[in-house]
Amino acid sequence: MSEIESLQKDVPSFDPPEEFVAGSAVSGRAAYDELCQRAAADPEGFWAWQAERLHWFRKWDKVLKWTPPFAQWFVGGQTNVAYNCLDRHLTTSRKDKAAIIWEGEPGDQRVYTYAMLHLEVCRFANGLKKLGIGRGDRVGLYMPMVPEAAIAMLACARIGATHSVVFGGFSADALRERMNDAKAKAIITADGGYRKGKPFPLKAQVDASLEGSTTVESVIVLRRTNEAVDMVAGRDHDWDDLVAGVSDYCPAEPLDSEHPLFILYTSGSTGKPKGVLHTTGGYLTQASMTCRWVFDLKDTDTYWCTADVGWVTGHSYVVFGPLAVGATTVMYEGVPNYPDAGRFWDIVDRHRVTIFYTAPTAIRAFMKWGDEWPAKHKLDSLRLLGTVGEPINPEAWLWYHRMIGHERCPIVDTWWQTETGGIMISPLPGAVATKPGSATLPLPGIDAAVVDRDGNEVGADEGGLLVIRKPWPGMLRTLWGDDERYRSTYWSDIENTYFAGDGARRDADGYFWIMGRVDDVVNVSGHRLGTAEVESALVSHPAVVEAAVIGRPDDLTGQALVAFVTLGPGFESGPEFGQELCAHVTKEIGAIAKPAEIRFTDALPKTRSGKIMRRLLREIATSRTVKGDTTTLEDQAALDSLAKQYDDG
Ligand code: WTA
Repeated sequence: MSEIESLQKDVPSFDPPEEFVAGSAVSGRAAYDELCQRAAADPEGFWAWQAERLHWFRKWDKVLKWTPPFAQWFVGGQTNVAYNCLDRHLTTSRKDKAAIIWEGEPGDQRVYTYAMLHLEVCRFANGLKKLGIGRGDRVGLYMPMVPEAAIAMLACARIGATHSVVFGGFSADALRERMNDAKAKAIITADGGYRKGKPFPLKAQVDASLEGSTTVESVIVLRRTNEAVDMVAGRDHDWDDLVAGVSDYCPAEPLDSEHPLFILYTSGSTGKPKGVLHTTGGYLTQASMTCRWVFDLKDTDTYWCTADVGWVTGHSYVVFGPLAVGATTVMYEGVPNYPDAGRFWDIVDRHRVTIFYTAPTAIRAFMKWGDEWPAKHKLDSLRLLGTVGEPINPEAWLWYHRMIGHERCPIVDTWWQTETGGIMISPLPGAVATKPGSATLPLPGIDAAVVDRDGNEVGADEGGLLVIRKPWPGMLRTLWGDDERYRSTYWSDIENTYFAGDGARRDADGYFWIMGRVDDVVNVSGHRLGTAEVESALVSHPAVVEAAVIGRPDDLTGQALVAFVTLGPGFESGPEFGQELCAHVTKEIGAIAKPAEIRFTDALPKTRSGKIMRRLLREIATSRTVKGDTTTLEDQAALDSLAKQYDDG
């Protein structure tokens, strides 16, 4: 693992536009460097300075208690996430500012001001209390992307209940497994939501998940689609009935800084999902700092992060971070191509969105759907773009920059994980020059490095493990109920160092290039290659819309690269075209990166959050069948047709 070889060619660099340098929270490269030095010289002082921007009922006694690998931040301090996201804005001019602008997929819209959101959160919190839910309880959420999802999260935080959001696309079995692990006392759900122009059910899955033994005593059901649902007397409660007659005010509980805020399950490479635990004061400190610095969020911004609240991005950058800094956050319920592939751009234009944050997989989908969709819209309100979730190939980055940002908007490529709680590596838009495909530099206070298996930093352009060497406030505290797994998963590869699976290299400017998960690294003839780089090379061919590259065992070369490729309209797949693509990769990277095999496919198997499931592709390419866990798969048909291709030869 010590030398993932990187063969990617040099790419252009974009300086922060002048308006950004002049007007942003961190203004100019020197300001960024100074913050980094300040944080390195006195990390605890630096983070305390950031935490001071929050409201504390009681100030902490100690900034950090670090007993590796267990951290406690702002020890002895008392605060409340909902208070910080709502109450403290009510005594300012933000009281009547839009907190959430929501649009349903069918086109219905709602706007909540901070005062209105506060009221709804208080009322729902009182509803939860009526059911005996309070401090120390776990509450599951299984919701569509509606404002009530945010209201429920904030209501839990207000009374000290720990929420665990399960993405609405997960199956009943997946929901059951997570709720049992968390020992949830209640589940908040809806009859359903809208997706691809149709209602989809949620309550029915909740019912199925509760068959057999369960700790769940209550189910709260929001009416969204008004499709018929079964209500179990005594257990199930209508959201509206629950809040009817409750008081309009519910005090925000002063909670210990280390009080569990939420558990979010994320899949490991093997075994049962991991319950990543985040707590209160440190998490919010990092979520809000990154909103101010990375997204440069100002009171005049209309900010839209397209993530679902079922993922960590929806927690930190749809709900908690933006509301903590008093921003206007846009929520959209549905898919990007309903009723047509221009929906996102239509939303941007109508709501005058200024900051737009999405995933590379979405950007590649837009590229595939064609330039005419963004071209039909003005997109002139935008000033900053962001990406998250996987390495963005330079072609997609440049398309995003040109077609969406009109070469005016900086792009923040933000590297972080469910486990890190908040953004870790990203350009600050008014300070750090960007290079397409690079997440650039760590944020001040984040001690990221690329190291070999022994923990020694590798040289420029040498690949290695991406690690974090100092604790940071947003870090996960443990895996719920499994300290040992926490230790062995993240802290056992290199002593007292956090490592969560990504390979990376730094270039001569110190910029980080994330090379994908280390299990996505392939060794061909003794050369280690990041599959993301090969994918990026493939996607740089004008015909290729999306590509996934995996390694399969090969007698001669150790491993061989297999590329699964989706072509754009008007291109004919076939053996000749495969050769052309191989020649293209050879040209872009070198002959050693040339795929041994190219498979054309209409769609790649993905998780519902849009990550390509390379694990399944690896199985298909090696054993021609899939026996592994497919519960997170979005589209079974994509997988079936690939497997069939192999059977047909
Ligand atoms: C990948 C999402 C490259 C990475 C917030 C990480 C990225 C995993 C980037 C975490 C990025 C996320 N560039 N890779 N900007 N952002 N990743 O937990 O492999 O859903 O380990 O958190 O996504 O995914 P998760």
